[in-house]
Amino acid sequence: MQRLSLQGKYALVTGASAGLGREMARQIATVHGGHLVLVARRKERLEELARELEPGGTQVVCIAADLSKPDEGARVFNQATEGREIHAAILNAGVTYFGHHLDFSFAEQQAMLHTNVVSVLQLAHALLHHQLQRSPGGGALVISSFAGTVPTPYQALYAGCKALLNTWGVALAEELAGKDVSLTVFAPGGIATEMGEKSGTGRKFKKGDVGMMDADVCARAALSAFMARKRFVIPGALNWLNNVMLRLAPRTLQAAVMANLFRSALAPLPAGDAPPRRVE
Ligand SMILES: NC(=O)c1ccc[n+]([C@@H]2O[C@H](COP(=O)([O-])OP(=O)(O)OC[C@H]3O[C@@H](n4cnc5c(N)ncnc54)[C@H](OP(=O)(O)O)[C@@H]3O)[C@@H](O)[C@H]2O)c1
Repeated sequence: MQRLSLQGKYALVTGASAGLGREMARQIATVHGGHLVLVARRKERLEELARELEPGGTQVVCIAADLSKPDEGARVFNQATEGREIHAAILNAGVTYFGHHLDFSFAEQQAMLHTNVVSVLQLAHALLHHQLQRSPGGGALVISSFAGTVPTPYQALYAGCKALLNTWGVALAEELAGKDVSLTVFAPGGIATEMGEKSGTGRKFKKGDVGMMDADVCARAALSAFMARKRFVIPGALNWLNNVMLRLAPRTLQAAVMANLFRSALAPLPAGDAPPRRVE
């Protein structure tokens, strides 16, 4: 199958109001000549990005949606495909919870499952069918995480969500071989974005630290893997090496190593500091 091209085509990007999603949207417009359907809850942020990109000739549609809610994936699909073909589905929106899993309410767990997993499955299913019928040669890019490759204490459900995406995505990519669409699962390690600030992991892992990627660098790697129609990519030499080494260890040892990595970021906050934010 040929490389994926976004020139003059629409890409839908979930989680385009911040971080990696915003950078991928920028690069799709400015480097790859694509048009955009931007999805997130903060519509004003999407409109700000539209104002930045439209003068360059990019057509931008903004859809405000809360993907933690059960029916939003279907509404986003209907609105996005009304009168246009979506050649690329970039399923990036995601949230984490950093802390003891038993402090994480079940309602919050359900919201995370919907955002990180259910909406991804729903949009991938609908958009891959749509591409096979109306936009052959298209594809889906699923943003997973390195955390999905190992049990990750203090982000236990987040890692579980991403493990599902890794396993499901690579299996589905194999099923799609020979068809006119592709699926890429991209599993980065730490990226310097709002996610770390919101969850509290940013107290330990900061922009510029070894192993932390800048969002624009990570976006470039994600889009490059997507266009080359790779099936599973962990970007960054250090993440790749960690993955190889951890894979040799039993799962209990993997969990102990990951717990050790994150535990110090759980340290009590200085008086007056806000506690880590939970899933919104
Ligand atoms: N940061 C990291 O270290 C890291 C590492 C590995 C993988 N990842 C993955 O990379 C992806 C992007 O994360 P990021 O680091 O760029 O995080 P971010 O800066 O916090 O951005 C998350 C994006 O997801 C959107 N989002 C969150 N909840 C949503 C909801 N309920 N409905 C609709 N949109 C929602 C947010 O928009 P609104 O708030 O406006 O809705 C925002 O645009 C995620 O899938 C994440 O798991 C991140």
